[in-house]
Amino acid sequence: MKRAPSGTPTSTDTTATASGGSSTAKASRPGTVLLGQGMTRTYHARTVLHGVDLAVTHGQTVAVLGPSGAGKSTMLRCLAGLEPLQEGTVAFQGELLSKAGTAPRSAGGRIGMVFQQFNLFPHLTAAQNVSLAPRKARGMPTAQAHARARDLLTRVGLAEHFDHYPYELSGGQQQRVAIARALAMDPELMLFDEPTSALDPEFTREVLAVMRDLADSGMTIVVVTHEMDFARRGADRVVFMADGRIVEDGPAEDVLTAPRQERTRRFLDQILSE
Ligand SMILES: Nc1ncnc2c1ncn2[C@@H]1O[C@H](COP(=O)(O)OP(=O)(O)OP(=O)(O)O)[C@@H](O)[C@H]1O
Ligand SMILES: [Mg+2]
Repeated sequence: MKRAPSGTPTSTDTTATASGGSSTAKASRPGTVLLGQGMTRTYHARTVLHGVDLAVTHGQTVAVLGPSGAGKSTMLRCLAGLEPLQEGTVAFQGELLSKAGTAPRSAGGRIGMVFQQFNLFPHLTAAQNVSLAPRKARGMPTAQAHARARDLLTRVGLAEHFDHYPYELSGGQQQRVAIARALAMDPELMLFDEPTSALDPEFTREVLAVMRDLADSGMTIVVVTHEMDFARRGADRVVFMADGRIVEDGPAEDVLTAPRQERTRRFLDQILSE
């Protein structure tokens, strides 16, 4: 399990129990970075998230596991303010991002997202991909944005690939550029949706190492993954989802080695026998 940065509340502290009456009051509870309450998402009259609650504490790494169609990606998009809710709220750093019945507000670069597909601009180099958003959205001078891109690409092990185009990079390298691109906006939270599932094992390891490094630096992370080893060693907390609900939520070691729910046990047995 990842060592919690000193002073960071532990995973026993993740259930919202603050005395404040409104969601905003609860979200401003010290230590809570992201708070989804009663999140319900319906597509074409079919509900795929059923009143899901999730509170993420500063510095925590949360691994989200579950079978295909469980609603993991949908939950992540709702938490990022990228999808409207039919019921419930999402608050980020105490600010309401999303509320049923209104259009959600994206947190901009303050929530960094990395998807299975890297979505880099093919006509831009690694450095240009990383420096684009700070230049365009934040007005950062080009020289400064490029210097920062160089630092970030070095941090993810790509110092030599600064001027390479995506087609000149492996999948693992492209995914690390995508991570550097998200970091360029100084996020306070990173959401990863199966960041390694399109990669070969060798490249998967490189990307997981970067994520471990980020987690160890104190970044707050929510990651949907099938990498059980990462969940076990890199996450503080595991959330298991099935059928649009959180079935089990607790310290990674407990959920993975001694799941309390039959549904979790079945999933883990199946994934470990693959
Ligand atoms: N834009 C959409 N329109 C209609 N239905 C959708 C949409 N996005 C997701 N769904 C449905 O919502 C359910 C949950 O999908 P979601 O992608 O969140 O699952 P998941 O747990 O991420 O699965 P996977 O492991 O395969 O990525 C699925 O039944 C899916 O078909
Ligand atoms: Mg998904």
